[in-house]
Amino acid sequence: MSLPLSIQSVTAHYGTTKVLEDLSLDIRDGELVSLLGASGCGKTTTLRLVAGFLEPTSGTIRLGDKDLTRLPAHARNIGLVFQNYALFPHLSVRENVGFGLKQRGVASADRNRKATQMLERVGLAHLADRLPAALSGGQKQRVALARALVIEPPLLMFDEPLSNLDAKLRVDMRVEIRQLQRANGTTSVYVTHDQEEAFSISDRVAIMSEGRIMQLDTPETLYQRPANAFVARFVGFENLISMQVETREGGSVVARTADGAKLKLSAQRFGEIPDSFVLATRPDGLLVTSDPSTGGIPATLGLRTYLGRAYQYQCETGAGHLVANGPLSSPLSIGEKAWLVPVIDQCAILAPE
Ligand SMILES: Nc1ncnc2c1ncn2[C@@H]1O[C@H](COP(=O)(O)OP(=O)(O)OP(=O)(O)O)[C@@H](O)[C@H]1O
Ligand SMILES: [Mg+2]
Repeated sequence: MSLPLSIQSVTAHYGTTKVLEDLSLDIRDGELVSLLGASGCGKTTTLRLVAGFLEPTSGTIRLGDKDLTRLPAHARNIGLVFQNYALFPHLSVRENVGFGLKQRGVASADRNRKATQMLERVGLAHLADRLPAALSGGQKQRVALARALVIEPPLLMFDEPLSNLDAKLRVDMRVEIRQLQRANGTTSVYVTHDQEEAFSISDRVAIMSEGRIMQLDTPETLYQRPANAFVARFVGFENLISMQVETREGGSVVARTADGAKLKLSAQRFGEIPDSFVLATRPDGLLVTSDPSTGGIPATLGLRTYLGRAYQYQCETGAGHLVANGPLSSPLSIGEKAWLVPVIDQCAILAPE
């Protein structure tokens, strides 16, 4: 059985230092939500509150109908998988996996059967009698996963579970975790600071900064329609260009940059466009051309780097420093004049900061 998790207006302190501020997060039954953000933004603290290792200063945490807020950690029945495995070194793999069942009073024969079944699912049945010291990092992490899953918790929480593994194994393991999570339908919170990992494994991702959630959405929405400048920068929109609407006509607007370069935008793609806004583009959504008839933002080109699929240019413009890509067929040189043309369906529109 799996349950929805509801964190409502939680504030948390370490001593007198506030680390989470009025944080709310609802995770649906069976959903996997990642918390993604820079070191120190409060990801682990959020998990500690849900696990019961830290009490919130205010706010509530509910799992299904149950109020967890003041419940001791051992009464919460949550499966936890951490970065450093935390396996018992003197217990065999099978005993490690069965440990939570033993604590719950499951008889030895039943325990062994369930532990063995779970080890089969994570592909480690053949290592059941080994001690953790004789396992590789990936194998240890799979034991930790089996140990969390075997108690069939209504909620699973992962804190950087793959960060001790090499790149290839990280990718394999995240697929395994997702498959097991899907198969069991267990509501899950997954902490990582790796954007690709979060986006690939999650139903939705919460992007956090300084103890707050900046946006909670599907990976697709975050990537294409960031809600604010922080999230836009986080997902690679390097160019944030301040714009002012000059004229509106039917479904489209003509807007200008600070130095007067005009761009035409259609409301069809962006919906309501406010009088002042920020046009956000990634470098590959801002094309460098030497043809003035295309319009765009006038620029003087700086350093050119080779990306394989395109050249990338550091550009000085009246709208500030911008990074834009140009075709391999016509490389341009430092100091040349050029025009930067936004690829409208790869742009996002944000409120001014
Ligand atoms: N036990 C503690 N006592 C005091 N301050 C703490 C404690 N644990 C964490 N902090 C502080 O709280 C803030 C949030 O820490 P937290 O561990 O939640 O960050 P995080 O997002 O998990 O970071 P990381 O990616 O580095 O693991 C940080 O500023 C951190 O220094
Ligand atoms: Mg952490």
